[in-house]
Amino acid sequence: VKGLVDAKITEVPRIFHVPKDSSTDKKPSVSVSDLEIPTIDLASVHVDTASREAVVEKVRYAAEKWGFFQVVNHGIPLNVLKEIEDEGRRFHEEDPEFKKRYFSRDFNKNKFVYNSNFDLYSSSPSVNWRDAFSCYMAPDPPSPEDLPVTCRDAMIEYSKHVMSLGGLLFELLSEALGLESDILKSMDCLKTMLLICNYYPPCPQPDLTLGISKHSDNSFLTLLLQDNVGGLQILHQDSWVDVSPLPGALVINIGDFLQLITNNKFVSVEHRVLVNREETRISIASFFSSSALPNSRVYGPLKELVSEENPPKYRDITLTEYTMGYFEKGLDGTSHLSNFR
Ligand code: SIN
Ligand code: FE2
Repeated sequence: VKGLVDAKITEVPRIFHVPKDSSTDKKPSVSVSDLEIPTIDLASVHVDTASREAVVEKVRYAAEKWGFFQVVNHGIPLNVLKEIEDEGRRFHEEDPEFKKRYFSRDFNKNKFVYNSNFDLYSSSPSVNWRDAFSCYMAPDPPSPEDLPVTCRDAMIEYSKHVMSLGGLLFELLSEALGLESDILKSMDCLKTMLLICNYYPPCPQPDLTLGISKHSDNSFLTLLLQDNVGGLQILHQDSWVDVSPLPGALVINIGDFLQLITNNKFVSVEHRVLVNREETRISIASFFSSSALPNSRVYGPLKELVSEENPPKYRDITLTEYTMGYFEKGLDGTSHLSNFR
């Protein structure tokens, strides 16, 4: 997409147009500006039991009512956040010849994959105004030679911090379910981490297209670092709510697998990204999800969370089965979870 912008196109090609009547964006038409997702301060989680419980309560509320929250005092140093943002941008702004070496649509061929629109050949109604590179950073970290020099150090350093913050978040989420702190980790929720760096170039006709179509995440949990441009919106009570950039904060959201194993107690909320005429936007998403790697482990609603009055709402599935369908259908704006009831 950056190539189109560098070529100074003034009209967005048809393939990027969001169909007017598509399920992608039929509803809602309202965007609300006075609502904010919760912000949770993690500074006190290790202070004493009472302070930790207060944080757990906020996490529970956010995971049940919003599916999204921001965290501050999360332990990842500001310079580490700045490095990954700067180096991610540097890769995307390298000349095309350099980036070409990493271009692929086959996520199994190389560890580090650069492309745009993974769903170009699927049944998505339109494609997105976005370029991205991605790499699985866990469980088998790439060796430095697998990564471009431009962003290698930052990816390795940032990922270490993401793994440890992820560990804390899964503990808090387990406690928020009223279960043992390590239950989610023991289910391999923290095992696999896919890092994706999104680059949304300025768009000459921002109303015709989207940076990312409406979707919910194919993960247990997603950690997102966004720059200060803005554009991410979540679907909350039938309105689009902006996730306003908060300097130094990370956006956390519940993914489909966590909704599945919590039997809908935690919600995986749909979101999208708007583009704008002037500015380039960068975001770095870390997905905890053991899905794209072959995995025969079966997941279903946790025994502890179901009862006669609250029977399982989903059947048992493997994440590989889930993910195959997710990518085949592309981002068409419908939740994939409902296919497993
Ligand atoms: C995503 O939904 O995966 C990316 C969101 C963003 O770029 O803000
Ligand atoms: Fe997402």
